[in-house]
Amino acid sequence: MSAGPETSKARSASPAEGVRARTLYGRRHGKKLRPGQQGLLDTLLPKLLVPVAHSLDPRDHAAPLDLPALFGRAMAGGYWLEVGFGSGEHLVWQAERNPDIGVIGCEPYINGIAKCLAHIERTGAANIRLFDNDARFVMAALPPGSLGRVFVLFPDPWPKLRHQKRRFVCRENLDRLAALMVPGAELRLATDDPVHLPWMLEQTCLHPAFEWLAGSPADWRHRPEDWPPTRYEQKMLAGRRPAFLRFRRR
Ligand SMILES: C[S@@+](CC[C@H](N)C(=O)[O-])C[C@H]1O[C@@H](n2cnc3c(N)ncnc32)[C@H](O)[C@@H]1O
Repeated sequence: MSAGPETSKARSASPAEGVRARTLYGRRHGKKLRPGQQGLLDTLLPKLLVPVAHSLDPRDHAAPLDLPALFGRAMAGGYWLEVGFGSGEHLVWQAERNPDIGVIGCEPYINGIAKCLAHIERTGAANIRLFDNDARFVMAALPPGSLGRVFVLFPDPWPKLRHQKRRFVCRENLDRLAALMVPGAELRLATDDPVHLPWMLEQTCLHPAFEWLAGSPADWRHRPEDWPPTRYEQKMLAGRRPAFLRFRRR
């Protein structure tokens, strides 16, 4: 079952949408889109959309995603994934500077997708593909060993104890990412949340497939040069210091 090249506006409810509703906790819609934004969702998004089933059921992903077909050519530098790209500033920055890499961005928040499409149109970056829903649906469809880098930047922290099962960085998702990442691939995580930071570190450092690359606190307190600030970072930090966490797939 394929999601097909449809816009969020056009999509109707389906059994797969039922799976999404149970698994995704963030909001999908914000304030009313401007006509130009809606136009980009209607015209540009269908050309960039990753065609995977909106499902976590392996039976819906029997044929793995054909990445060269998705990008129109085999990308010499491989493929990267960004989970929850927000408005896409970081995603487009990375894609522009790494034109030989195919960059897949996942974000269910429609207003963010519209902003990302505007960045893509402005820059002309041709090596980006988007998925307008839960990143785990794409992770279920990607071939093993297909990713050279994964970004999960300022994921929703779900700081309350009773909501911790909603956090994206968890054993189940790390298992899946470990299977998708080539040895030596980099996993980049960021958070400014004092509850989420030790959680992320515990989950990732205890995972046998990942090795934390920090040699000293300076390594995770200071922004690496090839890691631009995200929109969340620029607008929402309210004086909190972010942590920049880099892990290597063993
Ligand atoms: C706090 S925002 C940060 C956005 C962006 N990374 C930034 O730093 O500006 C977290 C984002 O993750 C997205 N998100 C949450 N769960 C997700 C999932 N399962 N798959 C993809 N995106 C997800 C949300 O819609 C939201 O836009």
